[in-house]
Amino acid sequence: VNVEYHRDLIGDPVRLDAYVRAIQAVVRPGDIVLDPGAGTGLLSMIAARAGARRVYAIENHPVIQVAREVIERNGLTERITCIQADAGNVELPEKANLVISDLIGVFGVDLDILRIYAHLRAHCLEHDARVLPRRIEVRFCPWQAPKLHEPIQFWDRPLADFDVSAVRRLAANRPVSVVLPKDGALAEPKLAWTLDLKQPVGETVEQTVTFEISRPGSLHGIGGWFLAELSPGVFLDSAPGRPTLPWRQGFMPLTTALTAQAGDRLELTVTGTQEPAGMLLGWRGNLQRGDTTIGAFQLHQFLGETWAPPDLASRGGEA
Ligand SMILES: C[S@@+](CC[C@H](N)C(=O)[O-])C[C@H]1O[C@@H](n2cnc3c(N)ncnc32)[C@H](O)[C@@H]1O
Repeated sequence: VNVEYHRDLIGDPVRLDAYVRAIQAVVRPGDIVLDPGAGTGLLSMIAARAGARRVYAIENHPVIQVAREVIERNGLTERITCIQADAGNVELPEKANLVISDLIGVFGVDLDILRIYAHLRAHCLEHDARVLPRRIEVRFCPWQAPKLHEPIQFWDRPLADFDVSAVRRLAANRPVSVVLPKDGALAEPKLAWTLDLKQPVGETVEQTVTFEISRPGSLHGIGGWFLAELSPGVFLDSAPGRPTLPWRQGFMPLTTALTAQAGDRLELTVTGTQEPAGMLLGWRGNLQRGDTTIGAFQLHQFLGETWAPPDLASRGGEA
């Protein structure tokens, strides 16, 4: 996380407008508010301006030092308390009745929102506390995207006559944030997860969805995006074809592209599990033509990390 990340995030007018409208609609005078993942402190200041009595800005990155300065320059030091801590483990002097956050990952859950909200609900919130965002829906779709697959194929080429293809595992098991190419959808998108943050949420997710392939093409990867309802009627929608948000869309490249025909069925299981490195996602898929399996894949973010030894295919990944 660097300053450009925060600039891209808070400089996006669509995102900022949605957060300002949602926070103004939700904050009530006297509220005690938590802002887990506070970054440079902007959401905390919007909540304070909207009438919160106290805001706890919780951020694990040293950027919190800069948030303190920003908050001081805006005369809000008395009402906003900055805490450098893991929001999934933080202890606070009082319980809050509202959480506002942007811990929305490209695939909805990949910024540890489930672990953090589970902790906050158990230890830091009144039982009837309100949440912003309220609900996050995550959709997936098989996608044809030859350009996005080139970085994987790169490692098949010998370099100075050496075989560097072992590096392919790192490239293939790493989801990226991209603008999905237009007209790449090979099927109707499917809703995989609905996270109702108003209720206690589990710390892991798993869902199997089946896609009917609607046209012939090369299946290069799985696209994913979210629809977040921040407050009643205020949405952020990162779907392809919508105005591009800082998240863009997610793309999980297959190790090897599969050739699909209209009428094929793709059965896809997407999992999100808590690992020491945070929430990591896995994708398992089977492409069926009639009763025959014509291709299968197993991908896991775990295997896209340099510290994952290649013999960990048993975790659901594909080397
Ligand atoms: C998408 S940014 C949002 C920043 C800020 N709320 C804003 O709107 O400008 C997410 C922030 O959450 C922080 N973060 C991620 N995991 C965290 C954790 N477990 N505890 C505290 N902060 C965390 C990141 O460092 C990052 O600054």
